[in-house]
Amino acid sequence: MTFSCLEPGDIVLDLGSGAGKDVFLAARKVGASGWVIGVDMTDEMLTLARRNAEKFQDSTGLDNVEFRKGCIEDLPLEDASVAIIISNCVINLSPDKAQVFREAFRVLRPGGRMVVSDIVLDRPLPSGLQDHAGLYTACIAGALPRAKYLEAILQAGFTQTRILTERGHQAGQAQGDPITNEVADSLEGVAASITVFTEKPPAMDGV
Ligand SMILES: C[S@@+](CC[C@H](N)C(=O)[O-])C[C@H]1O[C@@H](n2cnc3c(N)ncnc32)[C@H](O)[C@@H]1O
Repeated sequence: MTFSCLEPGDIVLDLGSGAGKDVFLAARKVGASGWVIGVDMTDEMLTLARRNAEKFQDSTGLDNVEFRKGCIEDLPLEDASVAIIISNCVINLSPDKAQVFREAFRVLRPGGRMVVSDIVLDRPLPSGLQDHAGLYTACIAGALPRAKYLEAILQAGFTQTRILTERGHQAGQAQGDPITNEVADSLEGVAASITVFTEKPPAMDGV
């Protein structure tokens, strides 16, 4: 779903690119005339991603990816420099999600699109689990309530949001996960994975 909106020649930014999985998928879609930039704050992930980029180039012949070090709250990119922003399971880790969306808005071109997959809360986390380190790692403890998350996107200046996909977390899933297993029953119906689509309004002549 995230990648279906990409077209040959697009310039794409992946927020919190990790080992580069989504960067490489996007790079195949945008082809040799496009460009994909991954931003991540950790040296370990950047080293891994750059090593993977060499393998990607060897296997595809494409030389259209780049990994930059930086925080998604203060992106190392020029204003209005990318056409599409993607992100998977990263923004919920930020302590200042509103700032992440303001930065995304700044670096997107007018008319540009953003498709982000993330975790939001549909009910408050049960007390006692709010400081659970494992749930932070699993991207749940840092998540915002769904309405606040979507409101932060609008507040940054984006147009109406559209939920492309969503999947509620069920106890069964958490039971299979070593991090969340011990608290699985308490998580039923609390969190959901959503993919949100939104746009930066196009530039208006004379404004
Ligand atoms: C759960 S991983 C997701 C990686 C990738 N998006 C994926 O789907 O495979 C989160 C990544 O975001 C990075 N990250 C977390 N917070 C960040 C921030 N504030 N600024 C930049 N990168 C961040 C981490 O270093 C890590 O590589």
